[in-house]
Formats: sequence, structure tokens, C-alpha cells
Amino acid sequence: MCGIIGYCGHRPAVPLVLEGLKRLEYRGYDSAGLAFLQVSRLEIIRSEGKLSNLEEKVAETANTFAPISIGHTRWATHGLPVEKNAHPHKSNNGSLAIVHNGIIENFQELKDELAAKGYVFYSETDTEVLANLIADELDILLVQAHQKTFAQNSPEYVQNAQNSPLQYLELAEKAFASALKKAHGAYAVVLLSPLIPQHILAARLSAPLLMGIGIGEYFVASDVPAFLPYTRDVIFLDDREYVVISAGGYSVKNLFSAECVQKEVHHIPWDLQGAAKDGYKHFMLKEIMEQPKVLQDCLVGRLQNDSVCLPELDALPVPDSIRIIACGTSYNAGLWSQYYLEQFAKIPVTVEIASEFRYRKPILNKNELILVISQSGETADTLGALRLCREQGYPTVGICNVLGSSVAREASACLYTQAGPEISVASTKAMLSQMVVLLLLALYYGQRKQLSAPYAEILQELKALPGVLEKALPTMREKAKHFAYQYAFARSFFYLGRGTAYALALEGALKLKELSYIHAEGYATGEMKHGPIALIDPEFPSFALAFDDENFGKVRSGILEVKSRQGRVIALLQEGTSLENDDLWYIPQTKLPEFLALPAMQLFSYEMADYLGKDVDQPRNLAKSVTVE
Ligand code: M6R
Repeated sequence: MCGIIGYCGHRPAVPLVLEGLKRLEYRGYDSAGLAFLQVSRLEIIRSEGKLSNLEEKVAETANTFAPISIGHTRWATHGLPVEKNAHPHKSNNGSLAIVHNGIIENFQELKDELAAKGYVFYSETDTEVLANLIADELDILLVQAHQKTFAQNSPEYVQNAQNSPLQYLELAEKAFASALKKAHGAYAVVLLSPLIPQHILAARLSAPLLMGIGIGEYFVASDVPAFLPYTRDVIFLDDREYVVISAGGYSVKNLFSAECVQKEVHHIPWDLQGAAKDGYKHFMLKEIMEQPKVLQDCLVGRLQNDSVCLPELDALPVPDSIRIIACGTSYNAGLWSQYYLEQFAKIPVTVEIASEFRYRKPILNKNELILVISQSGETADTLGALRLCREQGYPTVGICNVLGSSVAREASACLYTQAGPEISVASTKAMLSQMVVLLLLALYYGQRKQLSAPYAEILQELKALPGVLEKALPTMREKAKHFAYQYAFARSFFYLGRGTAYALALEGALKLKELSYIHAEGYATGEMKHGPIALIDPEFPSFALAFDDENFGKVRSGILEVKSRQGRVIALLQEGTSLENDDLWYIPQTKLPEFLALPAMQLFSYEMADYLGKDVDQPRNLAKSVTVE
């Protein structure tokens, strides 16, 4: 979802901003743009579609060494993905331009008020309303300060500002804060103005924004990769904070009081390599193939003499029940963990889709733990659900991948999944790492309750998994390719699973549809005969997960029922088992087959999408981090 970068420093800013936007491409976008100051004149270049279009335009029209610039990739919320709606948007008087991620919910009301004052709108966006609102506040302040004696945006006007830069900076900050106080909703917003040509202002509320600290250069961005080649020192802004950056320094202030806020500087542990393709054709493939390492990293420091250490949770009581709240793939990981939490920790678990949970006036149990799962830690619905529960006084635990993300900071405790940056829009290694943490959580609570269960045996299996997966991946990829080519004809697919495989079936279907745009549904194998089996014919294949567990016999019967209706089936099973089917896909024997089945299904979707020529890393209409409701 929208990517933002702003830069003040000593380098040519426009190429740096373009390069930063490229590293934010994974967030998903449909148009892009940037603004810079050319001899104190505000220049804006925007284009529809991919960043290459913007690059071409920039190459044609802007030969600039400007050291200050802001840029944006837009994921449409208000208005079509066309150039006039692309960011940056400038105010009518040209006194400023902004880029914005989020939604201003009261934009229509604000627009009407501004229109009544004579403002004209050239786009359908809420962002243009915000730009004019800030400009309007600034005008009011300038009149009060008796400064507005020149035609707006005239050379004299700009000259006047340059003669009293500190006063203008102070007024611009005030106008920025005052407008944002009137805007309801979510925003990460960055402002560039010829009236304060050395500075960029940026603020956030419920949308990601962080600051990078270089030497004689400062950055603001939606995510770390945007400025990673230049610095790994980062400040995470909190809601209702704004930052003023220039080549000479920065200050973080409270939006309401304008008081300076002391912020901790975090050092990002991974480098650009972690966010690069590493010779793979796509980020998704790279991220699937690095899962053995992800498994290993996720276990580091969490196992000690056959017991699980999660010190982040030691201060919280063992809950009577757990409510897991998440979206998309993270929801599927949560659903999967229900089986293990109930089996190993004997704690009842409810799993909820965040967007549904938030709006149904949920009744929570006494001593219930709220467990939110989010790779990005910025998903608006998940964050909203977390806040709702926190306001009611419930302990909250986040399972997150992104360091310093909103969920990580707002939950009572956070378990990091340590999967490293996930760039591909389709989530792969993040889910595997969530599953590891969730399994550890089940064992951890079981141990704290002093239950007797085969914990040591499970831990042994878990420790062996990185090696087993590493060895299995090359064959898996070959198999995935083989089946993808054979089944590329399908217009629809069922994914079937029972027990712990059920949540994986949902995930397999999600992955196939988001990558290859083939309709796919995940079903509990036992549910097929209650309706869905009516759809089965030779053109409607299924992908069945038949693990070597107590459900095997029933899953086998389910598969045979599909086959007797002439349905083609890819059956994924473990070595040492067999069933009557042509297309068998064997994975190694382990007590935790889900950790092998998941990469197999991911590879199948990947190969299918690649074979069909789809945009693997940035599927249409999708955003990596869904920061709007
Ligand atoms: O960052 P989160 O884990 O909160 O994201 C949740 C979903 O938006 C995400 O898993 C989405 O479903 C992915 N596209 C799945 O591949």
C-alpha cells in the first residue's frame, strides 16, 4: 500500500528518491510521482502505471541536482489510478506539495468547507484536500503574521520566505499540525514547500512512517529498504508525532503540543542483501527457498535443554483462553496453531478475522489473552482489533516480523518472527516463521502449566526441520513445476485438508488465487460432501493434503470420493504412505509435515503463476501491507 520517501541532504535527491521508490515497489501501487525544488520552484512529475513510466518522464523533463525531494507510489483508494490522482498533490496556490498514505475519512466535509472558500480540486483524492487544508491554515497564519504582502508563489513571496526562514518554518509547522488535527482517519504525510526550501515536514497517524539518520542527510519513508543503502539507523515515529528534517539535522515533535520528543535510534540488523533478489528470478522464489534459514533463525535463543524460552511472556499470566486475531495468511497461521495450542497447552482458542472482530461488539472472556499476528505489524484491521482489546484492559501479544512496527510497539509483549524482510507481496516465509513461533508458544504454555506431553520429541523434530527442508526443496521445486505445467488448464481449484492440514488448505488456495488469478477455495476435507463436491468434474481439480496422522484414512476416503466424480487430484503425502491416485507428491516423513507441505504449496503457486506469465512479486490489485480498512 502506498510507498513514501522524502530526502534532504547532499546528494542529487531525484534519482535517490526514484531508487527508494523502487525498493518500496513491493508494497503494491498503480501510479507514482515525485516533487523537488528547482531554484525554489516547486516541480512535480507524476505518471500512471509502473515506475519505469515515471523514470522516463523524469529523464525527459528533469535535469536536476536538487538536494531535496519527496516521492510516492500510490495504491488507489479515492479515485481511479490515473495521473491526475497520483501524488504529490499541490495546493491551489502552489505553496506546498504533499504525499500521503492512508485515508482522510472526513475529506468530503473538509473539501466542502474549502470549496466554499474558493478552492478548486483537480483530482478525486482526499490528499489534495489535505494539501489545500494545510495551505489554507498557512495562509491564515501568514495574514496574522502580516507576511502575506505578495502574490502567492510569486518570486517575491518565495524571496520573502527566504529572508525569514525560521519564521516561515515555525508557521509552516503550525499550519501542518493544525490541519492534521482537523483530519480524521489515517495518514503518513510528507510535505515539501518552496517557502521552507531546506526542510521537509512529515507526520503519522495509524500509517507507517519512519526516519533514517545519515551523515548530513536525513530520510523519511514508509519502510526501511527505501533508504537502506545510505543508513541503517532508524527512528520509528509514533502516532501524532511529526518530524522536521533538513540536511543539518532533525527534530521530532508532538503534533498537539509541538514539544520535542526524545526518540530512541534503532540499528537495523539486516542490510540491502536481505532485501535483494540474490540471483533468484523473483523475490517470492528467494523467500521460499530461504525458509530453512528462517526456521533456524526463528529458533535461535528460544530453546534451552529441551524447554522453550519466551522471556517476553514471562511477566504475563498463563491465560484461561486465547483469542487469535489476524488477516489473510497470518489468519491462516493462527487457525493452524489452534490445534497445537489446544493439544499441547490445553488452552481453548478462538481464531478471528480482524475486520469482522472489530465491528461485532465481541464479548471477551475473563483472563483471555489477545494474540494478534501480523507480518508487517501495520495491517489496519489487525491494529484496530488490538487497540480495541487493549482499551478494554486485555493483555495483548503481537507476533510480528517488522521491527518497531505499530503492532510490535502497542502490544503488551511482542514475539518477533525473525524472518527478515519479506518483499514479495504474497507472504511465504513469514507464515512459516509465524508457525514456528506459534508452536513454541503452545509448548511454552504447556510447560508453564506443567502438563505432560511429548514436548522433547516435538522439539527434536523442530530442530531437525531446517536440514530436512533444505534437502527437500530442490526436488519440491521440480515437482511443483511438473504439476504446475500439467494443471495450468484449470480455472478453479479445491484445496483439501483435515486437522492441522485444514488451515494449510486455506493458505494453499489463497496463494494460488493471489498469484495466478485462478479461482481456488480451501475446504475441510470432511465438508466436501456437504455441498462443494457438486462442482467436481474433470475440469475442476483438487490439491489434497494427506498427512500421515490419525486423519489419513478419512482424508483418503475424501480423495477417493472426489476421484469417483472424475475429479483430478494432486495428493501430497508423506513417504511411507500411499493411496490410489495418479498424481502423488511425496514429502519426507516428519511429525510436523505442515512445515514441508507449506513450501510445497507455495512453490506450486509460484510455478503456476510464472508459467502463466503473471506478475509474481506484485500481483494485480494487491498491497503488501494493508494500512487502510
Ligand atoms: O502484514 P499482515 O500479516 O498483517 O498481512 C495480512 C494480510 O494482508 C497478508 O497476509 C495477505 O493476505 C498476503 N497477501 C498473503 O499473501
